[in-house]
Amino acid sequence: MAKLRLGVMISGGGTNLQSLIDACADTDFPAEITVVISNRPLAKGLERATLAGIDAVAIDHKEYEDRELFEDAVNMCLKEHRVQLVCLAGFMRILNTSFVNRWKDRMVNIHPSLLPSYKGLHTHARAIEDGVRFAGCTLHFVRPDLDNGPIIMQAVVPVDIDETEESLAAKILPYEHKMYPQAVRLIAERKARVSGNRVVFDDINVGTEGLVSPFIE
Ligand code: GRF
Repeated sequence: MAKLRLGVMISGGGTNLQSLIDACADTDFPAEITVVISNRPLAKGLERATLAGIDAVAIDHKEYEDRELFEDAVNMCLKEHRVQLVCLAGFMRILNTSFVNRWKDRMVNIHPSLLPSYKGLHTHARAIEDGVRFAGCTLHFVRPDLDNGPIIMQAVVPVDIDETEESLAAKILPYEHKMYPQAVRLIAERKARVSGNRVVFDDINVGTEGLVSPFIE
């Protein structure tokens, strides 16, 4: 079967991008990255793409008069590279409804919270401030409302008593890296699909185990 063509959109360091690059290096992986687009020309993630021999394109939003023109340029680039699934990986610009609808059910995002809790920025600091016992990350299909859309996968970690924003981010990030390629694989193999506001799975065994925090032995 032909590999699913990915376009990864970033704004920064690109560690999630790297997890996808590493997964795609496996010849058995059912997807390939055809282009990496950054709205920040100096994003380290662009170097990661270049190092991996992937087209790395900077489309600087500051050079466009408005969001629509910027998004037109992004769309053109995605089209040129015949992208089938857009992967937002630390892409820090809000996208217009028209762009999001154009990629409906063909665009996913990783967000560092257990959605629908803590949409937006500073998720870890807000979660610690609220005293929640669990935090995590969510991989979801993108809908026009910010950090909204059918949830594909989530990972959960306990929040320790002395947790800091940094320590929580460090705890969650490896799960982001683990989930992203797994979710892309499910989509590429047509084992995850959108049904209404939910994602349903075909032909996979979903493990379930409860967690308690604090865990008292
Ligand atoms: C990740 O925490 C991701 O969840 C959020 O932005 C961060 C990007 O990190 N959307 P990186 O650029 O992939 O290292």
